[in-house]
Amino acid sequence: MDMYSDVLIIGTGVAGLYSALNISSDLSVIILSKSKASECDTYLAQGGISKALNEEDKKLFVLDTLKAGHFKNNKKSVEILANESIENISNLSNLGVKFDIKNNTFDYTREGAHSVNRIVHSSDKTGKAVFDALFFNVLNKKNIELIESTCIFDLITENNHCFGAVGIHNSEVYNFHSKVTILACGGIGGIFKNSTNQKTLTADGISIAVKNHIELKDINYIQFHPTALYEENLLNRNFLISESVRGEGAKLLNINNKRFVNELLPRDVVANAIYKEEFKSKSNYVYLDLSSMDGNFIKNRFPLIYNGCMERGIDITKEKIPVTPVQHYFMGGIKVDFNGKTSMNNLYATGEISNTGVHGANRLASNSLLEGLVFSRRASKNINSTISNILPKDIKTKFTFETALNEIHNNKRIAIETFKTALGGKKNELVTL
Ligand code: SIN
Repeated sequence: MDMYSDVLIIGTGVAGLYSALNISSDLSVIILSKSKASECDTYLAQGGISKALNEEDKKLFVLDTLKAGHFKNNKKSVEILANESIENISNLSNLGVKFDIKNNTFDYTREGAHSVNRIVHSSDKTGKAVFDALFFNVLNKKNIELIESTCIFDLITENNHCFGAVGIHNSEVYNFHSKVTILACGGIGGIFKNSTNQKTLTADGISIAVKNHIELKDINYIQFHPTALYEENLLNRNFLISESVRGEGAKLLNINNKRFVNELLPRDVVANAIYKEEFKSKSNYVYLDLSSMDGNFIKNRFPLIYNGCMERGIDITKEKIPVTPVQHYFMGGIKVDFNGKTSMNNLYATGEISNTGVHGANRLASNSLLEGLVFSRRASKNINSTISNILPKDIKTKFTFETALNEIHNNKRIAIETFKTALGGKKNELVTL
């Protein structure tokens, strides 16, 4: 089966949807999701989105991001992130995202390693609010066609130029021919035993990049979130307890009820402190204690976390939450320039699968959705102004359904091997085939 568009977008998280909305309406767009469109990490994001409070805050926001990232960041990317944060959040509001408001301004919250409260949020369901608004707008655009349940396993290429991608949909091989392709296929948590990510996110973008010799960067930069709910023998993804809970005053205690770390230090520092405490006390978890917060405040501010824990038998207005670090975010990825361009012509990458250098070695909390917004908009603007120079090429691939299935299996193997090497000693964190 062959399908044609000017722009092919793989992924329906914030980066994919926002890229699609920023492509000129006179260009045809096909946007693909691997399963249901909402089965993306954006949908799960709880805490919020960082935003410079005003012109004066931009410098401090840059510094906070660099410090959290151990100064391994690309400073220019970080400056772009801070500079373009205000307009992109205002675009989101215009697209219908309802952020929490207090005293006629955003109800800014705090998370680890931010010097000031600068995170906008929609209670603790920010990702869902963002996804729902963007998705609604995408469905209403005549130039965009959404196709769900499509597993892309390779690109269509010739001489380091990308002319689309190939995948399986409804048990059939589909060639999606395009002038420009955007990889916005999200993170890598699906190849980890313990992760807050959707299980379907198995680092497809990385395997595809490896197979096609597309440049990668910093693939050992993998973030572990300090506070996922600890559950025994879990087969599903781990339930996140947002860092904003600590931002609002929750404390970390060891199993002897002793506080052992400043909860608002950068994520990697807090996660390492928890690992040490678990090792010392021979426990698989520590506690997150919300007892400083009023019960009604907890229910209103954190309804998702309150209900999620309640369903699992923990009343967080009365009980401490057992938590432990798990894989959460991939700071490395497909190397891109400031406009999302990869080392392959006509191929862009944006969102978690890309590496803009914004996060350095450790992402500052709530900078991920912002990166997805800022850099996917830049990619789309770049595409709008250059696509008229690109000639499409109708290259037929030779995959059968069986060889396509083999490719999908092979991609997972490539991803596991790639990250086994990148993780060194921590390789037991990965799933096996
Ligand atoms: C959280 O709410 O703790 C996650 C937000 C993020 O990963 O930035």
